[in-house]
Amino acid sequence: MRRVGKWFFAALGSLAVLLAIGITLTIGWSPFLGPKARALTNRTFERTQQRLERGRYIVTGLSGCVYCHSPHDWTAPGTPIMAGKEASGEVLPYAGLPGRIVAPNLTPDQETGAGSWTDDQLARAIREGVGHNGRALFPIMPYQHYRNMSDEDLASVVVYLRSLPAVHNQLPATEIIFPVRYLIRSAPEPIAAPVADVASLDRFKYGTYLVEQAGCIDCHTAQVRGQNVSGMDFAGGFPFTGPWGTVASANITPDPSGISYYDEALFLNVMRTGLVTGRKLSPIMPVMVYKNLTDDDLKAIFAFLRTTKPVKHRVDNSEAPTECKLCKQKHGSGSEN
Ligand code: HEC
Ligand code: HEC
Repeated sequence: MRRVGKWFFAALGSLAVLLAIGITLTIGWSPFLGPKARALTNRTFERTQQRLERGRYIVTGLSGCVYCHSPHDWTAPGTPIMAGKEASGEVLPYAGLPGRIVAPNLTPDQETGAGSWTDDQLARAIREGVGHNGRALFPIMPYQHYRNMSDEDLASVVVYLRSLPAVHNQLPATEIIFPVRYLIRSAPEPIAAPVADVASLDRFKYGTYLVEQAGCIDCHTAQVRGQNVSGMDFAGGFPFTGPWGTVASANITPDPSGISYYDEALFLNVMRTGLVTGRKLSPIMPVMVYKNLTDDDLKAIFAFLRTTKPVKHRVDNSEAPTECKLCKQKHGSGSEN
């Protein structure tokens, strides 16, 4: 009996060791222990006019923070943000999310907003994906792109958020389904080194930076279980369903089935008006955000898009949605691919 007991515990012991190694090498311990987070500091970002303006440009234009973090009238034409409620948060309206995902109130309201969060709590959430209360954020909040946000841009964003009028808007909490709630905990990574500005003279690097901060790839790439379908970067087909109906993102690679026929002038016009030579785009393409970008930045974005790999992939929202074997979604003209 005793011997068996000993063997049993030895076996159990090695099983535990194997499991521990297995977890360390695969998903890591974060799903059980919580996200990797650095300690908060008491830094504050100096409020300057230059930062205020740069921050407004990023928050309302380039990165569309206000677009996600504000209540919209999703059934009205153009899905406008509700007046006077800018940046006060919303329950995301997209169908198919793993639970109720709430973009919080970022205005300095003490009770329902970011009034009591420190500058560094905001900074850590934006670039490192750990919320003010230490929770791993659901990565539809594009913190993985914002990792590369320069220190100065980050300071500008925080300075601008602090200048917003406080808006009282009580929202429910985010509730993510099992097991996604645990799996997302291994994504956050602390940032230890300084992140420098990207000079606009290096056009390719600058365009890459803008496209990353603007999040074009997130909407314009098909995903299966939160992962981009490989080989389909910027090739569209990802369907967005909500109160506005269903609309799939466009192929914006330089393939003939994408936007090879665009020139710079047409691109600027599309990004400013939401009209493609008379065809009106769905407001789910957030032109209300990007129309605030400077000509120079839009040109750098267009130049970057021209360097993406052309992908042959038809997406046509005027056709009924059908299965697409290339991007593994259902979208207009899907069966023709
Ligand atoms: C695609 C939509 C989207 C965009 C764009 C977006 N966010 Fe978020 N953000 C979210 C969602 C959703 C959450 C909450 C995630 C959760 O609850 O797990 C969030 C969380 C946050 C938090 C964490 C709050 C806390 O609990 O501590 C901050 C701060 C924040 N966002 C700021 C920003 C800023 C600044 C930008 C622009 C640079 C931005 N967000 C862009 C959707 C977005
Ligand atoms: C929130 C999701 C979302 C984001 C973010 C987004 N798009 Fe779109 N975009 C769409 C959808 C959906 C369509 C299709 C609209 C339609 O067909 O009515 C679209 C259409 C377009 C078109 C029109 C293509 C055509 O001629 O049919 C262009 C160009 C475009 N997007 C470029 C961009 C660029 C560049 C960025 C980043 C700066 C971007 N988009 C970010 C969702 C998005």
